[in-house]
Amino acid sequence: MPNGSDLARRAIHVCAACHGEGGRSQTAVIPALAGQAPMYTARQLKDFRAQQRAETDNRAYMWGVSALLDDETIQSLADYYAGQTPLAGRSRASAAVLRAGRDIFENGMPAKGVRACASCHGERAEGAAGFPRLAGQHADYLFNQLKVFGTRLRPHGVLMKAETANMSPVQMKAVAAYLQSL
Ligand code: HEC
Ligand code: HEC
Repeated sequence: MPNGSDLARRAIHVCAACHGEGGRSQTAVIPALAGQAPMYTARQLKDFRAQQRAETDNRAYMWGVSALLDDETIQSLADYYAGQTPLAGRSRASAAVLRAGRDIFENGMPAKGVRACASCHGERAEGAAGFPRLAGQHADYLFNQLKVFGTRLRPHGVLMKAETANMSPVQMKAVAAYLQSL
């Protein structure tokens, strides 16, 4: 048994306090990790460790948590969460909002230079490699990240900066609600 998995098994209890059992977070501003693409999760943990994602919550929570993780443990954690059953789709948004969100997700907004989210995140927002799964993710968390990409606080989100630059908060909320419903 590699040392990394041993540490990971212990770390998972710490992570669960915020991210929920199996990474199925029950808190709207804390992301679910269950079913996430392992390469993406590993990259985020390395970004936190390098203090690259600098939003207030991450400074407060994830910088400290990730500081003690070596690469092997990070990989074991990423593999563990990739294998967990993701949160099921759910939504309290209106049908009109979900339709608007779906349109952005599937077609983008060509006049504003916003590409179809599905072209990178997958047909059902299932994610792959460095493209995160968004399906079933908490809409509040997604909305927060869409705003963060417009700042300097998440420098590795380069591809997302172009996508979000011309989106209004209403459009961001609609696509976030649609993604949570998947
Ligand atoms: C004290 C609460 C807390 C603990 C403990 C915690 N996290 Fe987090 N984590 C957060 C919050 C809050 C965010 C999101 C902050 C933001 O960007 O809005 C986050 C974000 C993340 C993200 C980014 C997800 C994404 O979709 O980009 C990953 C990956 C992550 N945490 C993994 C872990 C792992 C693995 C552990 C255990 C080793 C852990 N976290 C422990 C609170 C916590
Ligand atoms: C050109 C490819 C591409 C397109 C198009 C794209 N994304 Fe992304 N997206 C990415 C990548 C790559 C990341 C991961 C960035 C990182 O590693 O920090 C990401 C990250 C995200 C995140 C953060 C997820 C998390 O767990 O923190 C959200 C939310 C998101 N994208 C939503 C969208 C939406 C909504 C659209 C359509 C309007 C979209 N994306 C279009 C490539 C893309």
